Amino acid sequence: ELSPIDKAKFAAAKRAAEFVEDGMRVGLGTGSTAAWLVRCLGELVREDGLRITGVPTSSRTAQLARDAGITVVSLDEARWLDMTIDGADEFDGRLNLIKGGGGALLQEKIVATASDQMIVIADISKQVETLGAFPLPVEVIPFGWQTTKVLVEETLIGLDVLGRECGVRMAGDAPYVTDEGNYILDLHLHRIGNARQLSLVLNQIPGVVENGLFIDICDILVIGQADGRVAVRD
Ligand code: A5P
Repeated sequence: ELSPIDKAKFAAAKRAAEFVEDGMRVGLGTGSTAAWLVRCLGELVREDGLRITGVPTSSRTAQLARDAGITVVSLDEARWLDMTIDGADEFDGRLNLIKGGGGALLQEKIVATASDQMIVIADISKQVETLGAFPLPVEVIPFGWQTTKVLVEETLIGLDVLGRECGVRMAGDAPYVTDEGNYILDLHLHRIGNARQLSLVLNQIPGVVENGLFIDICDILVIGQADGRVAVRD
């Protein structure tokens, strides 16, 4: 028996799988909601003969997809994708997102940007009025990361945010390392007044590779609830 939250995630994933058509090249997101999507697509491949090519957004998803029987290629092999389906940590009423709670934001943003459409699947608890309650992940190069962290903190001064606490994500005693060999700073901003501006200024700091704000990237939002109901927004 699934927990209520898993029922909601599964409902969203199952509905989103209906958008996938035969022959498509599909970006596969990362996280627990995206994992449901990979399972749903795997079932369609194995049982209905659906032919798709999957481009995973993390080593974890690559493994899951192969296990599910989905043909996996790299983005460089696929070049352009018909759609990407991924989860999110937060979404607002304009379909802007915070992603990267699972640490895969860099590959996720590259893959989503290379896709004609991005479909986001999430349970209703991820909905917010204003982004920022979820700590914003920022991927940084390990070289000089403590200096980069100070630059990030200084950049936040004067911006429309409520908090400025910034910590490096840990995995045990050492910083967490992304698939690309980088570190992640989690920015506790509580409220992001101008997400577009914040994203631009963060990405201008040397040492910052990418941040978890997805502005104007998501086209369709599929929101699941524990009772199985699903809402689609675009
Ligand atoms: C992974 O890096 C993230 O962007 C995920 O998409 C996000 O953390 C959502 O994960 P869950 O579906 O597990 O909540």
